[in-house]
Amino acid sequence: MNLSISAKNRLIFALDVPNRKEAESYVRALGDTVGCFKVGLELFIKEGPDVLKTVKQNSSASIFLDLKLHDIPATVRSALRSAATHGVRFITVHGSDGASILQTANEVKDLGLEVLAVTVLTNVSESELGGLGYKENLSLRQLVLDRANVAKESGCAGVVCSGEEVALIKRTCSNHFKVVVPGIRPLWADVKKDDQSRIVTPKDAISNGADLIVVGRPIRDAKDPNIAALKIVEEIESALSA
Ligand code: C5P
Repeated sequence: MNLSISAKNRLIFALDVPNRKEAESYVRALGDTVGCFKVGLELFIKEGPDVLKTVKQNSSASIFLDLKLHDIPATVRSALRSAATHGVRFITVHGSDGASILQTANEVKDLGLEVLAVTVLTNVSESELGGLGYKENLSLRQLVLDRANVAKESGCAGVVCSGEEVALIKRTCSNHFKVVVPGIRPLWADVKKDDQSRIVTPKDAISNGADLIVVGRPIRDAKDPNIAALKIVEEIESALSA
């Protein structure tokens, strides 16, 4: 486990909201509690790069631009260079199409941009793999691990995977290779059955070796989002000290 990251800096809040105004109110409420804000497709497509300025103006937390890029290497390379001009720390690229796309990560390292490869989305379950065209006997863990290895060899800063695969990746890849885990559901969270499939608690994700966790709905939809975020930071702290 990488102990050099503080509990607060391990918590990424997914700003999954429809517009800049709502994003601003979450950033103001959570800016001192979380280490990073994740801007995803919904918000970025609606508001464009201006929303990144809103985050920066209201908090010193870092920014994770979760656009899950998926295109030919030349296009991904140009998109990463454009993203680097916005001063974001992390960006995601799909890890399903091999090394030549993931190697573009090397070209933005000097610009301070860390590329994370998405291994297999956390809504996908093992029983769906056959229907997606994979060999019947391929396990989801093996697929995630293979993609993590390609991402590491290609020069990515880390991967996004579920809490169920994090220990395996930490054992196989180096400790410096970041593992970011979404699909987090605290035991106390009042989140109805949703699209996430491979879910874990904040405690289990961190105990299994996650460097960073991404939490959206359990904080966004809580009665008091800042209290929910503080509870998660406490849970991360106790997992780290255990
Ligand atoms: O609301 P919830 O906590 O499920 O939010 C999870 C966030 O993590 C969403 O913004 C989603 O896009 C993102 N994500 C994910 N699975 C991945 C990569 C990112 O759920 N593999």
